[in-house]
Amino acid sequence: MCEPRYFDVRYAINPWMDVDAPVDPELARTQWRALVEAYRGHGHTVETVAPVEGLPDMVFAANAALVSDGLVFGSSFHAPERRPEAAEYEAWFKAAGYEVQRAGAVCEGEGDLVPAGRFVLAGTGFRTERAAHREVQEFLGRPVIGLELVDPRFYHLDTALFFLGEEDGEADGSGGGNVAYYPAAFSPGSREVLRRLYPRAVIATEEDALSFGLNSVSDGRNVFVAPQAHGLVDQLAGRGYVPVPVDLSEFRKSGGGIKCCTLEIRS
Ligand code: ARG
Repeated sequence: MCEPRYFDVRYAINPWMDVDAPVDPELARTQWRALVEAYRGHGHTVETVAPVEGLPDMVFAANAALVSDGLVFGSSFHAPERRPEAAEYEAWFKAAGYEVQRAGAVCEGEGDLVPAGRFVLAGTGFRTERAAHREVQEFLGRPVIGLELVDPRFYHLDTALFFLGEEDGEADGSGGGNVAYYPAAFSPGSREVLRRLYPRAVIATEEDALSFGLNSVSDGRNVFVAPQAHGLVDQLAGRGYVPVPVDLSEFRKSGGGIKCCTLEIRS
């Protein structure tokens, strides 16, 4: 994770960002710290990368890489304003002893790449390019399933879908695990792919999605979720998950939430 010391909205690269709507830096820091505490309080280890002045979106750690089986696939950001973030995260990984392969095509890490059981679900349409999906499959040797995003408000896959975890008694060929998603964020064909892969998925409403409820992190039991996503929170509880509400409303001004602020190091 990356502390939001320099977090701000200084350019607009998604429909949520309005350079004239001021960010409350103190509130952003308080909310971000609450997320760190929520993770630690549930037994997770949090490591941090140093924020860099002039990189206001660096707080969105998820976009910097995909880490799977200890392999780091580093990002190549779409927006010129964010491109320098890649080297900062790469330096962190190298110092921590990881080798990093940088994407050739535009690729925004876990923003668009969601490990899901034996697959990697991969978004495209606004940021990450199809060519990057091929690179990821080649690099990880895991099947990558491309999904087309069609609503600019949900410009990254992680704003429209998250992986809940493996679930018991799976015999439906789903590839392991289950997801929550907002169908209208996807093209008709991609919606059909999701319906086939995850017949028992949690289907979120537009309201859940607009409150960044799908920008959640699940550890398979606890789901760190935006409290404003009421319908989703209730559905998760009904399925036996433990919703852990963490309010990151200040980051919505930049089009981000819980998952965006979290890069999972999957060893
Ligand atoms: N302002 C950032 C951008 O538009 C927000 C990134 C949110 N990250 C995410 N994983 N969805 O790039």
